[in-house]
Parts: sequence; structure tokens; C-alpha cells
Amino acid sequence: MATFSQASVFLCLSLTVNSFYYAESQSFIGVNYGQVANNLPSPETTAKLLKSTTIEKIRLYGADPNIIKALANTGIRIVIGAANGDIPNLASDPNSAIQWVNSNVVPFYPASNITLITIGNEVMTSNDQDPPSSGLFNPGLQDNLRGLLAFQRDNKSPFAINPYPFFAYQSDPRPETLAFCLFKPSSGRVDSGNGIVYLNMFDAQVDAVHSALNAIGFKDIEIVVAETGWPYSGDANEVGPSIENAKAYSGNLIAHLRSLVGTPLMPGKSVDTYIFALYDENLKPGPASERAFGLFKTDLTVTYDVGLAKTSQTPSTPTTPVTPSPNPTAAAWCIPKFGVSDAQLQPNIDYACGHGIDCSPIQAGGACFEPNTVASHAAYAMNLYYQTFGKNPWNCDFSQTAVITSTNPSYNACIYPGGST
Ligand SMILES: *[C@@H]1O[C@H](CO)[C@@H](O)[C@H](O)[C@H]1NC(C)=O
Repeated sequence: MATFSQASVFLCLSLTVNSFYYAESQSFIGVNYGQVANNLPSPETTAKLLKSTTIEKIRLYGADPNIIKALANTGIRIVIGAANGDIPNLASDPNSAIQWVNSNVVPFYPASNITLITIGNEVMTSNDQDPPSSGLFNPGLQDNLRGLLAFQRDNKSPFAINPYPFFAYQSDPRPETLAFCLFKPSSGRVDSGNGIVYLNMFDAQVDAVHSALNAIGFKDIEIVVAETGWPYSGDANEVGPSIENAKAYSGNLIAHLRSLVGTPLMPGKSVDTYIFALYDENLKPGPASERAFGLFKTDLTVTYDVGLAKTSQTPSTPTTPVTPSPNPTAAAWCIPKFGVSDAQLQPNIDYACGHGIDCSPIQAGGACFEPNTVASHAAYAMNLYYQTFGKNPWNCDFSQTAVITSTNPSYNACIYPGGST
């Protein structure tokens, strides 16, 4: 069995401005707006571009007032950052922190909806993640971290991480690792600590951090993925960058987040995730891949389409899907993939039935109670969830345990909704 990769999760610290935000937010997909470039569109143009997409959150590495102003009254939520170089001052002198907020937040808020401030970027690198259930922070950092985490917990501030399955693949460039990293069908990886089968590297990396937080007593701290992405091109000697891989990673990540299945250790909700990045940054040093993460070109065309344009889908009104499909009225049902275990299907029942659908047919006495198996009950609940929430492909993901079929699974008096509409 393959092992989980090491050292591909970076951590940074964050503070929330609006502490209730994370509990209430329905939108969990954001994008990073890096500016190490000399060819970027103007902040106004960028604001217009963002408004043409379903991206509702943007993360800046600094606090460029021109960008913050251009995003005023757009409804887009903004994460701003204090630089690593500011940390010693901010940490040692409360007045300097107040001053920082007074000059970078107060003049713009609330017209510019600044919701989070990150402090530094990639300030720590976590080590061993194998398996996710045994994730631990570097023992040398734990005392300092405890103090910080207590502060973050008291202020309902999330813990930001930068998981990069791309780097995990680079350090273990085998085809099955690539499939696992790109959310493609794979045999998955069993966590030897608890028997959970992971079906993608992203979940494994996020859960490793959850385990590390849990191990030092902070399992309730919200995790935010401040950065993750995949480059679409690179140097000849780099393994992994390609348009196809980048599109698969970002597109499948977005579908996975929209499915709301969560990770095995944090089921039923999606981790807030900021994709890296909005544009290429042509002045970044390092291998060519560092300059090839952009979802958009500087002429505002997409590098590859991952369905973020407003017209390509409407996640906020899932009952009226507008995704063009060859035959939108065709009968279709959502059922478990062949060979998926009960352990993987039980959370799907819990999740689907926890979302307001009527699960009484699979309860004792219901028309679909027999056969009384997890697989049969999961099929009913997953399908009903899929039908109820809009019949979009991402409503039939369930951490890649589900598949859409044109064969009606109904039997006897047990009717699966999903015939032609
Ligand atoms: C700012 O973002 C918060 C959190 O998502 C939201 O509740 C609030 O309505 C937003 N404010 C504006 C003016 O858009």
C-alpha cells in the first residue's frame, strides 16, 4: 500500500474579522490573487472578471488599497494578509497591530467586505502525515502553537493550511498517485490507524491537519485551505504540470467541495478553500510551474474551464440547474459505485438524510426498508438527495462513491424518483 506524502502541507495563521462568517457561509470556493507580476489586468477589470464568475471570495497576500477599493460593493469577500516581515512587530507591540488594522481595514470596511486577515504565509511546514489519523505538529513548535491556537479558538478564527497534492505527486510520481491526487477513480489508501479508506489526497492532507489539531486538544478549530492548486505547465524536467492535470485537479476539487460530503474525519461540510491562483504571476522565481497556476489569462480568457463562469452553473439555486446536458429530461438515478464498502456508504446515508430529504421509506415499515442493508439504503438516500438538490453532477459525487445510471433501480413498491421529468 502506498504511503501518504510528507511535507506538502504548509500552515499559516489567521484572524477573522467577522467571527460568525465561517459558521454561516454557504460559499466555500475562493481564489488567491497574487501580484508577483508586471502584466496583470487593473483592479477594476479584475473586479468585473470576478463578478462574472461564481467566485465570491478572494485572498490577497498583502493589503493593496487599490484592489481592496476596486472590490467595494461587489459582494466579494476579501482576505487580506500581513507579510511575514510584519510578524515580529505585530506580535511584540499591540499598538502596531492596531495601527495595521487602522490603515489596512478600517478605511475600507464594510464597503469592501474584509472577512479575514492572514498573518504571514508558509511560516511553518508540517512534517509526517502518514497516515492522516496520526498527523502531528512538529514537537518543537507545539508549545508555541498551543498558545496561538487557544487565542484562535477564543476568537473563532480559523486555522489556515496550504495542502498541495501536486507536490505529493512530485515526490511519488506513480500513475496511481496521480489518480489519487486528481480525485480520479483509484483504489484509494487505507489509513492504518482507523481503517478509513481515503479516495483523494486532498482529504488525506486536510484530515492529517485535523488529526494534528486534535492531538493537541484543538479539534474544534475550523480549518481553512488558504491555498491549493495545480500548475498547467512547467519545465521539461518537472513531473505533473499539464493543462489536463490542472483542469482535473481544480475541476474535481470544485465538484468535491460542492458535493458537501466533506472529508472522512469532517463529514457533511466543505472546508473553505482558496484555489491558487487567479492569474499567472510572471515574475515568480523558481521552476516554470511557479508561473503557471493561473485559472485566467491576463486577457481574461480561461486557461482551462472548470465551470466557474456564472452562466455555467448556479450553485446558489440548486433546484434550477442550468448546466447544459445532452438530454436534460433523460431519466437518471444516482447510486453507489460498484464495490464501495458499507463503511463508506453509511456516511452518505447520514449526510443525505441529514439534509431534509424524506428518508422514511428506508426506515422500518417503509417501502424501501427491505433489503435491510447499508448498500440498499444508501442507494435510496443518495438518489433522493441527487434528485432533490438539482440533479447536477456534483450532487452525485459523495466523495466519489457515487455514479449516475440510466437504469431504474426501483423494485416492488420501492420507487426511486428520477424517471423522466
Ligand atoms: C460580508 O460578508 C459576510 C460574511 O459572509 C456577510 O454576512 C455580509 O453580508 C457581507 N456584507 C456585505 C456588505 O456584503
